[in-house]
Amino acid sequence: MEEEKQAWGSRVGLILAMAGNAVGLGNFLRFPVQAIQNGGGAFIIPYLICFLLMGLPLLFVEWSSGRFGGNFGHHSTPFILDSMDKKKFWKYIGVFGIFTNVAVASYYCYLESWTLSWVWHSISGSFVGQSQEQVANFFGNYVSLTTIEPIIFWIICLTLNTWILSKGLSGGVEKVAKIGMPLLLIFGAFLAYKAITLHTGESGAINDGTAGLNFLWTPDFSSIWSAKVWLAAAGQVFFTLSLGMGSIHCYASYIKKKDDIALNAMSAGWMNEFVEIVLGSAILIPIAVGYLGVDKVMEMTKSGGLGLGFQTLPYLFQQWGGALAIAAGVAWFGLLFFAGVTSSLAMGTPVMGFLQDEFGWKRGNSALAFGCIVFLLGLPTVLFFNYGVFDEYDYWAGTVSLVVFALFEIILFSWVFGIDKGWKEIMDGADIKVPNIFKFIIKYITPIFLLGVFIGSLPGIWNQITNVALYQEIAETTDTFAIEQLKTKMLYVNISRIGLLLLWLAIAYLVYIAYKKRIKEGRFTS
Ligand code: ALA
Repeated sequence: MEEEKQAWGSRVGLILAMAGNAVGLGNFLRFPVQAIQNGGGAFIIPYLICFLLMGLPLLFVEWSSGRFGGNFGHHSTPFILDSMDKKKFWKYIGVFGIFTNVAVASYYCYLESWTLSWVWHSISGSFVGQSQEQVANFFGNYVSLTTIEPIIFWIICLTLNTWILSKGLSGGVEKVAKIGMPLLLIFGAFLAYKAITLHTGESGAINDGTAGLNFLWTPDFSSIWSAKVWLAAAGQVFFTLSLGMGSIHCYASYIKKKDDIALNAMSAGWMNEFVEIVLGSAILIPIAVGYLGVDKVMEMTKSGGLGLGFQTLPYLFQQWGGALAIAAGVAWFGLLFFAGVTSSLAMGTPVMGFLQDEFGWKRGNSALAFGCIVFLLGLPTVLFFNYGVFDEYDYWAGTVSLVVFALFEIILFSWVFGIDKGWKEIMDGADIKVPNIFKFIIKYITPIFLLGVFIGSLPGIWNQITNVALYQEIAETTDTFAIEQLKTKMLYVNISRIGLLLLWLAIAYLVYIAYKKRIKEGRFTS
């Protein structure tokens, strides 16, 4: 029997799925940490400018490119880009749009599985009566795999993702978004209310909840001159909107030719910004600053947001006591789970689209293939988390790869496909009039901006490749055991880099085979 053609069930479902793709762990764990690490108010102006000049334009570009390619029956970036220009080069640029999803999903699903586990531990009372140090040790033991539990939760999480994906867009992804997004908003509103109404002296708080908000929302105009802050802001805009990944293209490729792009893209994009700017800034920072103060929080976030989110908040929730502590734990980790799963599902669809379009795989089998690939690639991030493998995946796939792909796709859209054709694609079926200034921005400003971000990132990329930070750490360490540990870490980091490179090459090879197959079968690629 012919498999039912994939399509979105409703407009609301599409917008919620796209918003769910964007709203992720990045909104609640990455955004607050980037803001704290970049001086609070110093971060917000570059962030908003990056959103307007890069985020929104790229949303229009990715939604419209996806719908354009989808009309020719393409649902993954290699052949979506191929439908926009016939030079072989673009197909291989499109490889990034599969690679990034697979590589990000490989560490992201592990993180997602922690949220499930922490929901369980919040309900079962594992954190009750524990000191801050004990809660932190709980996390340390978890990622050091002192028990089998992390593996079990991880496999449950992968199985869940695979099962939902096998149900298809309207039967799986859309249903989860329709349940998950409203629940996420309810949980978020409850926690934001608790955070903002926190008073000095209440359950041991040393600041009002509003102290954290003031820290974040008092603009500091001097940050305009800091390249570091701009790079962090641009990186956050990319990650949070899921730009440069290929997942937006894939979701958009299932939109009908004359259906709206412009208003839908705006709705999903602004929904993400609401969740990030309002809820993302109103929970973690106010609670943490309320109990610990700005300086301590800045110190604690030096190594990322996971510590604050998983080691500190469960402890701080306990200060509220009894049922409220349980409710806060379930709301926080439940919210993170829904944010995570609606994003990881979006990472699965491009891979499935590719296997279905090019190799005629059935939906269930392609979902299973995604689950198995993520299991195999994710295993090193689980087993060697303490050796920096997780962070290495995040750096190459979740940071660098997004910018590289976005830079090429904006050049393709504005200069090769042509901005006039591109603008027509954006406006076809549009339910709003996008201001004409965006045509200018997409053609000139966004590419220049992206080029600037890319060039600005080069020194950091070089330092990463040459392991500068690790060598420095080794040079500053006197303990021979610690030096050996750091050397082992460097080995694992180098191996994971080679692994990621091989993954990219393997996908490129599959694209090559798919292309040959299309030619042989007379299925031309536009
Ligand atoms: N956009 C997703 C997030 O913010 C990937 O986590």
